[in-house]
Amino acid sequence: LVKAVILIGGNQKGTRFRPLSLDLPKPLFSVAGFPIIQHHIEACVQIPFLKEIIILGYYGVSEMSQFVGEMVQLYKLNIRYLQEFEPLGTAGGLYHFRDQIRCGNPDFFFVLNGDVCADFPLIEMLEFHKTHRETQKAIVTLMATEATRQQSLIYGCIIENKENNTLEHYVEKPSTFISTLVNCGVYIFSPEVFHQMANVFNKKQMDFYNVENGSSIEREALYLEKEILMPLAGTGKALVYQTVKWWSQLKTPGAAIYANRHYLNLFRERRPERLAKSVQPTIIGDVYIHATANVHPTAVLGPNVSIGAHATIGYGTRIKESIVLAHSRILDHSLVLYSIIGANSEIGCWTRVEGTPCDPNPDKPFAKMENAPLFNDEGRLNPSITILGNNVTIPSEVIVRNSIVLPHKELTRSYNNEIIL
Ligand code: GDD
Ligand code: GTP
Repeated sequence: LVKAVILIGGNQKGTRFRPLSLDLPKPLFSVAGFPIIQHHIEACVQIPFLKEIIILGYYGVSEMSQFVGEMVQLYKLNIRYLQEFEPLGTAGGLYHFRDQIRCGNPDFFFVLNGDVCADFPLIEMLEFHKTHRETQKAIVTLMATEATRQQSLIYGCIIENKENNTLEHYVEKPSTFISTLVNCGVYIFSPEVFHQMANVFNKKQMDFYNVENGSSIEREALYLEKEILMPLAGTGKALVYQTVKWWSQLKTPGAAIYANRHYLNLFRERRPERLAKSVQPTIIGDVYIHATANVHPTAVLGPNVSIGAHATIGYGTRIKESIVLAHSRILDHSLVLYSIIGANSEIGCWTRVEGTPCDPNPDKPFAKMENAPLFNDEGRLNPSITILGNNVTIPSEVIVRNSIVLPHKELTRSYNNEIIL
């Protein structure tokens, strides 16, 4: 029996995803027509003998319950949301809810970071863990991928013993170069790992009582990377499964446009019925249109466009490399490029909404998305995709370029490289 846990954090996290995460937990933001973590769930339901998916975070239960209900209906599987009483770190929640994870006696459980996107090779990884675990007595397999030298520093860095695929050395976000092999935030654990967690946890409790100002210690929080994986390096108990399939972090809105393209592309291979096929409107490349959206036959959409529920796409519009969320209206003859249009927003006629992609450098093998800082040295906004928060209104005949518009704004003119608060 196998289980899966998806770590989603909570409201204090995901700040880089603003303004899109202001009204909705970031894990529920829609990419390629489906909430970010529904892509994780779809990968998990393919695993043979998967009995339960536990979503772990500190968002309020009320923010997650509708989504979880829909997932249970759709996949006919035990899917639960468990809320941490405070941010418990990447392993604190696993430890706190260990009885929920262990019940039913799973042989293995997956842990997936909710803020990555990938063509998750979970079945292959499980086969790998099963076959290598016997000889190595391993209790965890980490998914790893190649990054560039410079970009590796923002990830957990791995040195692998190539002879037996064990984790030789691990450093979380090193300050100097360690290795271009990085942690993807996708793991398989054997339940023995809870012993390891118990040791770390109990040590923390001792520290809490022994240190004078113990209250300043994060008593209950545990960190998977530093406190569990690092000590396992060199012991032979951690295995490395390297993937060459598509993988990326999904931390910024720019990454959502990138993930949108890749997930649509995977649909072409595996779920072609989800992609729009029509002559009117004209569809170029991979496009997802929700069944309830209203797209005018003269519109031209694609490549890499997702149109949400009840959206209205007007006469002669052109949309490319963008996500248009539910209930938005794009009026006649307007153009949307490299942008995210928040729910319930309206773009007037003959208007142009345009952003700049932040794709990985195609000339560098293994390059990942660049998460450029918001502002450059002159205090100007760095070129980025254009993002309209929810309920934004843009008038007719203006140009909004490389800008970020907070929710509930009514613009009256054109903007270039600005944050509109
Ligand atoms: N439930 C819960 N509680 N989840 C949390 C908490 C918490 O207190 N804190 C973070 N998370 C979730 C986040 O939502 C995310 O899915 C995952 O845990 C890791 O988040 P971070 O702690 O922000 O780490 P990171 O994303 O910078 O780095 C991690 O992922 C990289 C791959 O994307 C590390 O595991 C790196 O080693 C790894 O390379
Ligand atoms: P090329 O297509 O490479 O010649 O450049 P382009 O300037 O037309 O490309 P751009 O990326 O600016 O636009 C992408 C698509 O949107 C093209 O098919 C354009 O014809 C179309 N387009 C550009 N501007 C507008 C506009 O203001 N309104 C509408 N409806 N479509 C536009």
